[in-house]
Amino acid sequence: MTSIRRPQLAILLSGSGSNLQSFIHAINAGALEADIAVVISNKAGVLGLKRANAAGIKTITIDNLQFQNREEFDSALALSIKYYKPDLLVLAGFMRILTQGFVKTFSGRILNIHPSLLPKYPGLNTHKKAIDAGDAFAGATVHFVTAKLDGGPPVLQAEVPIHQDDSPEKLASRVLEKEHQIYPLAVQWFCEGRLTFVEGSAFLDSAALPKNGLTYVGDSTKK
Ligand code: GRF
Repeated sequence: MTSIRRPQLAILLSGSGSNLQSFIHAINAGALEADIAVVISNKAGVLGLKRANAAGIKTITIDNLQFQNREEFDSALALSIKYYKPDLLVLAGFMRILTQGFVKTFSGRILNIHPSLLPKYPGLNTHKKAIDAGDAFAGATVHFVTAKLDGGPPVLQAEVPIHQDDSPEKLASRVLEKEHQIYPLAVQWFCEGRLTFVEGSAFLDSAALPKNGLTYVGDSTKK
């Protein structure tokens, strides 16, 4: 009997790994048909690594401070990743700007989640920026990674209303709940071969996705 190889994921993180946990849950629940081949962190001892160890997932730490420059770190990272032959790299709170060379090596096979409704608020402190701007909604966006920081084509967004008395921390925790719903879903689409990246654009079931991606509305999505 031949066994079918499930899609292999490499998850890259730098911190608490609550998104990693959502992938572990989704895999255990059968909602995500993939295996996590390895979790890689650029910081030793973070909670994300502990979560991976607790789930019996192979972990690697590659400390960026041990490298002279971005190119050398990214080369070492790429080498470690290639050993595991992943189908998809999943950035889950990986606090590193990736070099063009790295992105090219894995072109069309890197997803990220960013805690804002891109193209609004790339970079850091997204929740404070949304509150300070008086926005009615914050949210999160799953997108393909290109060399432009938080600038690759969006796949799926979840909106979260901003309350009058919101703090960045309160808002962040509500946004995270949504992240844990949309990220495993988008990764499952990729694993099914439904989500693709062609010539700089994102496609679902061969149809080009809207400029800001799909909007998540519970168990379905709207365009
Ligand atoms: C999330 O807010 C995600 O949007 C951003 O980094 C954070 C990671 O959180 N890219 P966690 O480590 O998965 O808990």
